[in-house]
Amino acid sequence: MITDANVAPLHAAPLASTLGVPDGDLLVIAPGEASKTRAEWARLTDAMLDRGFGRDSAVVAVGGGVVGDLAGFVAATYMRGVPVIQVPTTLLAMIDAAVGGKTGVDTHAGKNLVGAFHHPAAVVADPSVLGTLPEWELRNGLAEALKHALITSRDELGWLVGHAGEVVTPAKATSAAMGELVVRNVRVKAGVVSRDEREGGLRKMLNFGHTIGHAIEAAAAYGMPHGACVAVGMYVEARIAEMTGVARAGFAPTVAAALDALGLARVPAVPVPAAVVAALTHGDKKARGSRAEYALLHDVGEPAAADSGYSMPVDDSVVARALAECLAG
Ligand SMILES: NC(=O)c1ccc[n+]([C@@H]2O[C@H](COP(=O)([O-])OP(=O)(O)OC[C@H]3O[C@@H](n4cnc5c(N)ncnc54)[C@H](O)[C@@H]3O)[C@@H](O)[C@H]2O)c1
Ligand SMILES: [Zn+2]
Repeated sequence: MITDANVAPLHAAPLASTLGVPDGDLLVIAPGEASKTRAEWARLTDAMLDRGFGRDSAVVAVGGGVVGDLAGFVAATYMRGVPVIQVPTTLLAMIDAAVGGKTGVDTHAGKNLVGAFHHPAAVVADPSVLGTLPEWELRNGLAEALKHALITSRDELGWLVGHAGEVVTPAKATSAAMGELVVRNVRVKAGVVSRDEREGGLRKMLNFGHTIGHAIEAAAAYGMPHGACVAVGMYVEARIAEMTGVARAGFAPTVAAALDALGLARVPAVPVPAAVVAALTHGDKKARGSRAEYALLHDVGEPAAADSGYSMPVDDSVVARALAECLAG
């Protein structure tokens, strides 16, 4: 069983004891993205070799996306691959990271650049563990849930906004709505991924809000949570879609209203200059040539550019205009 030092006492140790996992077989990493490295992969696989795990072993990953990605990669490579059971403990991991089979580690050249596709043998998500999450970690998941709703349908968006009050804080972890939120979002992510496992096209629509979101994350020197950056990114990209005539007028206000309902700000908490963000859109791995690539929507539930793999280039001048307008508030 692999977990991190925050999740170990709260959830992993009790689970290990229930399952009869010996103390020494609970491997603990330091919390945070900094642990998603080849060095940690080596430390974990060495620990497994030292303990004599064979081809008949399996890895149980208990934690957020960092644990899931790293432990998944350990499982993908250990003895050329052993099963992994994902037990996600953040909302983001439950509805996003644990579904889809992507595992891996970060490198000096960028995030997630060394990894493997390795589907979990099972994913076990118990929303009640979300009760111990810090508020912002829950919001990270809510930003991705909003993205899922926006790319899917007005029904999904209506449900999410209508139940916002029952899912916006960790104190609501045991609400019926929180359980349904997880189920609805797993259905969306699994639906997209199962139709496009290797990111040939369809899966790219999951990048909505992320070209700008990643640029804001970099501009804020990773001092802003991913979900907060994606929240701003979805609004800016909705405006880009309106400005280029891709989206129907009124789409951006719909996104803004949904962000408000979920307590997600559409202006960055850390001031980030529009010109810096614009320049950083080219650092994104989705960039092709001199124009960055975007996964835009015509409207709620209507991803654009189906014929070019749900991804289209946008002129820097439009991006600069949208950023100048949106980041000013
Ligand atoms: N594989 C994929 O398809 C995919 C998709 C999206 C994101 N990711 C990856 O997921 C990672 C982000 O995942 P994350 O947002 O879950 O971050 P995380 O794993 O860093 O967890 C966030 C924080 O919450 C703590 N935590 C986790 N569960 C807890 C709980 N129940 N109670 C209290 N604290 C808890 C963790 O210790 C950590 O400090 C990134 O590395 C990202 O690249 C992967
Ligand atoms: Zn994301």
